[in-house]
Amino acid sequence: MGSPSSRESDASFEANATDAAAKAAKRDLEKISVSLTVNGQRRALAIEPRMTLLEALREDLALTGTKKGCDRGECGACTVHVDGRRILSCMTLAAMQDGKGITTIEGLARDGALHPLQAAFIERDGFQCGFCTSGQIMSGVAMIEEAKAGWPSAATADATKPFRLSDLSNTEIRERMSGNLRRCACYPNIVDAIADAARRS
Ligand code: FES
Repeated sequence: MGSPSSRESDASFEANATDAAAKAAKRDLEKISVSLTVNGQRRALAIEPRMTLLEALREDLALTGTKKGCDRGECGACTVHVDGRRILSCMTLAAMQDGKGITTIEGLARDGALHPLQAAFIERDGFQCGFCTSGQIMSGVAMIEEAKAGWPSAATADATKPFRLSDLSNTEIRERMSGNLRRCACYPNIVDAIADAARRS
């Protein structure tokens, strides 16, 4: 038989365990079902409503190519495509994307071949540590499509005229990629890589 103090600590331990189990059960009850088509595959998730798309991709689907940098919408490391549009996955809830198509860096290659912008990043040496690279590439791919669709940017001299891909100067690329930050010295190489990929697209 234990001492009074050891019996008290046993009781306290059991109370804590019961409390933790009740909290876990409550969290499970609060989970919601979300269906995403990620890189062409339908994925059914049971997640807490507060889970961001970034967390769902990295933690529930193990797609860790999408990076968590600032986790507050400032760095662009978490950029993915939702129905073809670039989005900061740390700034949107996974539940808000129910039924949508998500593309991550893992889904860019086709038939074993890198996406032209992935290849251009290698050719132009557009990265050092690579932490921000997936976000840069996802943003760059969408940016080229935006330019092809005629979208102007804050750097466009005359927004009343239709924007053409041939108008995509280095200044335009810098402006359109301004939401993607990096800490090394590769900005010029990234601009060159995007210009190459845009010319080839
Ligand atoms: S991690 Fe999303 S913007 Fe930085």
